[in-house]
Amino acid sequence: MGLPRIPQGAVAAATGLLTLGLLLQPVPAQALENGLARTPPMGWNTWNAFRCDIDQWKIKGMADAIVETGLRDAGYVYLNVDDCWQAPQRKPNGELTWDKERFPDGILALARYVHSKGLKFGLYATPGSRGCANIWDDYPGKTGSIGHEYQDARTFARWGVDYLKYDWCKADEDGLTGESAFGLMRDAIQATGRPMVYSIHHEPELPVRDWYPKVSNLWRTTGDINDHWFSIARISLMTIPIAHHSRPGAWNDPDMLEIGNGGLNYAESVSHMTLWSMLAAPLLLGNDIRTMKDQDIAIVTNRLALRVDQDRLGKAAHRVKHFPHLVLARPLTNGEWAVSFTNYGSIPARISVTLEELGLTGNWVFEEAFSGRKGAVKNELASTVVRHSSNLYVLRPVS
Ligand code: GLA
Repeated sequence: MGLPRIPQGAVAAATGLLTLGLLLQPVPAQALENGLARTPPMGWNTWNAFRCDIDQWKIKGMADAIVETGLRDAGYVYLNVDDCWQAPQRKPNGELTWDKERFPDGILALARYVHSKGLKFGLYATPGSRGCANIWDDYPGKTGSIGHEYQDARTFARWGVDYLKYDWCKADEDGLTGESAFGLMRDAIQATGRPMVYSIHHEPELPVRDWYPKVSNLWRTTGDINDHWFSIARISLMTIPIAHHSRPGAWNDPDMLEIGNGGLNYAESVSHMTLWSMLAAPLLLGNDIRTMKDQDIAIVTNRLALRVDQDRLGKAAHRVKHFPHLVLARPLTNGEWAVSFTNYGSIPARISVTLEELGLTGNWVFEEAFSGRKGAVKNELASTVVRHSSNLYVLRPVS
């Protein structure tokens, strides 16, 4: 039996309507599969220490220091220039360009220098008309990418950008919505063919939207971090309940590190590193590396902490016990486990957890990251933890 005959005109009309319909429909976002950030990105960013006070000499000095201190070889490979590198006005052809006084040799030359040091280069942009510093730091001009997304992505690719931080900065006031605005720059980056880690900051940050991992490699979970224990405590406590969203290629970003900026004592710095490692957070240093103290270098290059943060399973920690004495646990590759104790209180606390509470059976040995203490786990792991400090254990099964 033949198919019923449909008049040609009707087919043409239907095809036309279908095409029109397809054109009018929002294109569904494709998952971001750029193969990057299989473990949380590590590096350094200009913002926490310097805000807008940046120039090419300072940043080159930082690249040198990242190599000399051994931080690059420990894995801190991205050197990310945050806001305030831009000239207030675009070029006549619409291209974004750099501030000529603070970057006389240009961003391409700076990126080349950074690359020559065996580092990768990151840059900052925003989807709306303004950068955040245009809004909050009196930075002149309107440096946002709105209407120039593909052009800017091509410019970044030409300069050798390996990592783009794309920051909301009230773009809703320009009529934008998060998913399409962040998706547009994702597509623009993909169209350049240059691999770039894509870091987004949508506001409000929470809840974690379904589209964050489809669009980006990492997304901010809170407002800006401060160089103070309460900020570390607050951000960690907000990010722990949503830790399950993190996975290879797609990470919660509880913001850049404050270690070495002077506002955290040793115990608090150890906690900052422990919590970020347990959360599988990006580790982006935010301090002046040229004057970094050995003690702080030791914290951020701690062998076990980095092993936990960079574990290839990419499973962020879950909460085993609650405030004020927090116990977190996360499974690692090779059947190992990481367990952390954090004392959010103001007096020393004895913190403990049993193997049963961890859901583990059999025999285990432990190593604590910052004291180097090792031993057998005899049914429970226990320690006295001073105020605001953390212990970070790696547990290994023994037969
Ligand atoms: C926002 C971001 C910060 C930083 C500044 C730059 O506040 O959250 O991390 O990038 O903008 O202006």
